[in-house]
Amino acid sequence: MRVDVEYLEYLWPMRHYLITCGDFKGTANIIAVSFCMPVSKEPPMVACAIGKSAYSCGLIEQNGEFVVNVPPKELKRQIYYCGFHSGRFVNKFQESGLTAQTARSVKAPIIQECTAFLECQVTQAIDTGDKRLFIGTVLEAYADEDVHKGERIIEYAAGDFPRQVYGGRFA
Ligand SMILES: Cc1cc2nc3c(=O)[nH]c(=O)nc-3n(C[C@H](O)[C@H](O)[C@H](O)COP(=O)(O)O)c2cc1C
Repeated sequence: MRVDVEYLEYLWPMRHYLITCGDFKGTANIIAVSFCMPVSKEPPMVACAIGKSAYSCGLIEQNGEFVVNVPPKELKRQIYYCGFHSGRFVNKFQESGLTAQTARSVKAPIIQECTAFLECQVTQAIDTGDKRLFIGTVLEAYADEDVHKGERIIEYAAGDFPRQVYGGRFA
């Protein structure tokens, strides 16, 4: 026998990322994102799907850039904070305790506590149902040197299917 399921659950596990957007001076925001993937090797490009109602969606649209910050699993609490609160109402850097640092090539900050960083410039944006798919060229990709050299081993944030965020249609 087969039963109807929430389709997303069967695409799991997915990595969790913290995407920063906005401007270091003023509108800087963080959104937890799992819908993020590489879409071209040459030139290097990534795509991320951002809810149309998310505050971050407007900021990325406006500034045409975002940063994919790769968090270790120790940041799970902060990931969930950024995934359950909106930058419309709270300053997520202040409230989560994450530290904003100047990026190399974009106005959005990077998150100091993360391990690797992809600074992206939006080249295309496509409406997909309740999300907007932002496709970006990777302008800069860098990571902590000791992790890159294998001298420090990091477990990255992924996790059980976050039913509170995505589940429900067949629950
Ligand atoms: C683990 C996790 C993964 C998430 N993945 C996504 C995602 O891929 N795309 C998305 O739009 N929202 C995702 N969310 C939900 C957003 O992070 C959430 O709606 C957030 O409050 C939006 O913040 P903003 O209004 O400041 O932009 C995720 C939440 C969690 C906890």
